[in-house]
Parts: sequence; C-alpha cells; structure tokens
Amino acid sequence: MNKSVGTLVERLVEVVGTDLEDLCEAANQAILDGNGFGWLSTPPRQVMENYWRGVLMVPERELFVARLDGQIVGSAQLFKPPPNNEAGAHIMTLTTFFIAPWARGLGLARGLLATTEQAARAAGFLQLDLDVRETQAAAIKLYEESGFTRWAVRQNYARIDGQFVTGYFYTKDLARSPKVQQNRRKKQQKTAAKSESMA
Ligand SMILES: CC(C)(COP(=O)(O)OP(=O)(O)OC[C@H]1O[C@@H](n2cnc3c(N)ncnc32)[C@H](O)[C@@H]1OP(=O)(O)O)[C@@H](O)C(=O)NCCC(=O)NCCS
Repeated sequence: MNKSVGTLVERLVEVVGTDLEDLCEAANQAILDGNGFGWLSTPPRQVMENYWRGVLMVPERELFVARLDGQIVGSAQLFKPPPNNEAGAHIMTLTTFFIAPWARGLGLARGLLATTEQAARAAGFLQLDLDVRETQAAAIKLYEESGFTRWAVRQNYARIDGQFVTGYFYTKDLARSPKVQQNRRKKQQKTAAKSESMA
C-alpha cells in the first residue's frame, strides 16, 4: 500500500506517525466549516485526541479514514449494536462521516461510504442506518445516490445557535445485491426524468 501519493480509504486500527494529529485537524476544520458530527465549536485538543483514542478502543466501533497524499482528511465510523441488543443485531450505524473542507470534491466521501458499506455487508449486517441534518445537502445527495432511503424526519433534531434544525433518518438494505440496487436507481432516475419532461 502506497500512502505517499493520491487518495486512499482504509480501516484504521491504530494511529501511527501524524495520524492522530491529522485526524484532530481534519475534524476541527469540519467543525469550523459547520458540521462536526455534533460538536458546534472546536473542543480543546486533548479532548479531541481522547475522543479518537477512545473510538479505537471501543470494540463496537470501527473507524475508517480517507487519506490524501498519506494525510488523514476524513472519517466514518461504523457502530455495531451492543451485545445485549440481540433483536437489533442486524443493524449497523454509520456516523462521524466527514471530509475536511480542503479535500472535498475528490471522490473521497464516495469511496469512504462504499468501503464502510462493504465492511458492514461483509460482517453480515443486513441494514445500514444513518442520520443527517436537513442542511447537509452534499451528504444527502450522496446518500440518496448511493441507495439510502429516507424513512423518518425529526423536527428539533439539532439545536444550533438557539435554532432547531430538522434531521433526516436514512437506511440501506444491505441484503439486496449492489447490482439490483443500481438497476432500481437507474429506473427511478428514468421515471423522474420522464415526469420532468412531461411537466
Ligand atoms: C458530504 C461530504 C462528506 C462529501 O465529501 P466529498 O469528499 O466532497 O464528496 P465526494 O467528492 O466523494 O463526492 C461524492 C458526491 O457527494 C455529492 N456532493 C459532494 N459535494 C457536493 C456539493 N458541494 N453539492 C452537492 N453535492 C455534493 C455529490 O453527489 C458527489 O458526487 P458527484 O461528484 O458524482 O456529483 C462533505 O461535503 C462533508 O464532509 N460535509 C460536511 C459533513 C457532513 O455533512 N457529513 C454528513 C453528516 S451525517
């Protein structure tokens, strides 16, 4: 694996070199840009470092990162249900999905989403869930293009500067083969294009 050039998406099981510093910096930039997976302002560096170290220690979490020229520029986490949740043992949740502003538009998020989805599927999970603020247009477009279905809307999902923001809940059926999903999406796009041309 050549980490010196180009883009790369991989699971991170331990931090080496500048990984932790890069991860904290990328997350800080995402927070300053307006979406830092819950954080509204950048926390002290030690808090941020402890957060990522904690993520790597929790068995129910898997951390994936996107790299640009070797540097970590984004993340995604898969949450497995806790051992007591046997009834929900088929559902994996995706969270902390972001790419630092300076590394956007290079296909890293698409790669990260595909990799996490594949990991969830390979681990035998049947469903991948996530939620997002309605204001995150780029993420919503990516999720919908990737076959996620919106199944719920929650008012007062987030509170930012005293204002409530609505949130969307999405799910993807991992049991369907990617081919079937691709065909279904093509069909939906064709139908949408047809009704637009008739309007
Ligand atoms: C959403 C986000 C992860 C996309 O990262 P990215 O690396 O720029 O995305 P990619 O380059 O892989 O682009 C993938 C797709 O995302 C969508 N997208 C990316 N940037 C977009 C933009 N500015 N406007 C609309 N759609 C956009 C497009 O569908 C794009 O596919 P296309 O290039 O074929 O049109 C990034 O904008 C981000 O970190 N946003 C803030 C955090 C966030 O909203 N996270 C989701 C919370 S659950």
